[in-house]
Amino acid sequence: MSKFVIEGANKLSGSIKVHSSKNAILPLLAASLLSSEPIEILDVPLLEDIKVLLHLLSHCGCDVKIEGSKLQITPDIKNGDIDVDGVNKLRASILLLGSLLACGKKVVLGMPGGCNIGTRPIDLHVKGLSQLGAEIKLNQGYIEAKVKKLKGAKVYLDFPSVGATENIMIAAVFAEGETIIENAATEPEVVCLANFLNSMGAKVMGAGTDTIRILGGKKLSGCSFVPISDRIEAGTYMAMAAMCGGELELTNVICEHIRPVIAKFKESGVKIYEGENTVRVEAPDRILATDIKTLPYPGFPTDMQAPMMSMLSIAKGTSVVIETIFENRFLHVGELVKMGANIKVEGRVAVIEGVKKLKGAKIEAKDLRGGAALVLAALAAEGVTEIEGACHIDRGYFEFEKNITSLGGKIKRV
Ligand code: UD1
Repeated sequence: MSKFVIEGANKLSGSIKVHSSKNAILPLLAASLLSSEPIEILDVPLLEDIKVLLHLLSHCGCDVKIEGSKLQITPDIKNGDIDVDGVNKLRASILLLGSLLACGKKVVLGMPGGCNIGTRPIDLHVKGLSQLGAEIKLNQGYIEAKVKKLKGAKVYLDFPSVGATENIMIAAVFAEGETIIENAATEPEVVCLANFLNSMGAKVMGAGTDTIRILGGKKLSGCSFVPISDRIEAGTYMAMAAMCGGELELTNVICEHIRPVIAKFKESGVKIYEGENTVRVEAPDRILATDIKTLPYPGFPTDMQAPMMSMLSIAKGTSVVIETIFENRFLHVGELVKMGANIKVEGRVAVIEGVKKLKGAKIEAKDLRGGAALVLAALAAEGVTEIEGACHIDRGYFEFEKNITSLGGKIKRV
């Protein structure tokens, strides 16, 4: 169990290249199982979650080769029984349900895990895949599923769940006939998956809108693919720069994907200059309060809620943050309060009275994005902060300490 020790109140300036998106890569790994030829995925940051899913692919029988940031996956499914250690470490393991069923396998899958930010049910995944003809049984701690033949269907999602949209898309590629997903998630990661499937020979249309059409039954070939850049990693570094003074340039950014985040930074007085695939951030003398409500894309992303709350905790004035996506996503609040923040939570609403300075404290990261938010707070705070639970942050931020150190931040892992 490692922790971060951070000496705060240093100005951070410099340039960082944003990595490819973890949340885009995980569905690509699951979808790789559908190919009859080797798949190459480039520019992959070898984060914990990605390593765990690769381990599960190997467990199924795939040959996985890692050369630096290049992955080569040669699909060969010998085993659909993956009720093993690792499944419950990440949420995206549920995507193997769609791909294994698509390949006609009988599946035994441990219940997916991931951050403890809400109950995170899988009913929409189950409903959608069942409508395509799968028989799914939920047991204590594991899922059993099988299918005779997947058949295209019209699936309406009660909520535009990112994971359920991806799972149904993957399964529908091998279903007979047409599948239409209505009220589908429109997140960039869903579009990335559609592009990946299409580059293997699938026919997925409408990704990025709320109606996705998949013409099933196509045989998929290999491909070489570069995933999109990580909009949440970009946003987190932007908040870090805004809180710690100085100027930061981010490269490999898709500005279109961070529109709602850029809008909130601008409202907070942070200067943002957009280039072609770059963003430059200039911190104001004092951040200004603003209100945030998390929503499905293109609304403000729930994954940026915690980093923004860290930033608003030192803003001038009162901010209101409403979390509408996950019911338990304020785990960082108590820790920020230990650092001197003035935040009150009532249900899904947090009211933040900005303070001038945060101060170092002994705190604990309890989830991925909340943990990153605490690192930002510690970098801006006066004194030394110790953050237990670095493993949560490692799941989503590749070379975090290296990047922070390159900007002039003082962070050590012990
Ligand atoms: C993905 C992202 C996560 C992000 C989230 C929302 C990955 C690996 N993770 O998670 O970082 O915060 O999108 O942008 O890509 N829901 C149900 N039933 C279901 C599925 C979801 O009720 O069957 C609910 C969830 O509890 C939650 C909401 O729908 O309240 C959104 O969840 P969803 O969009 O599915 O998020 P994930 O795909 O798990």
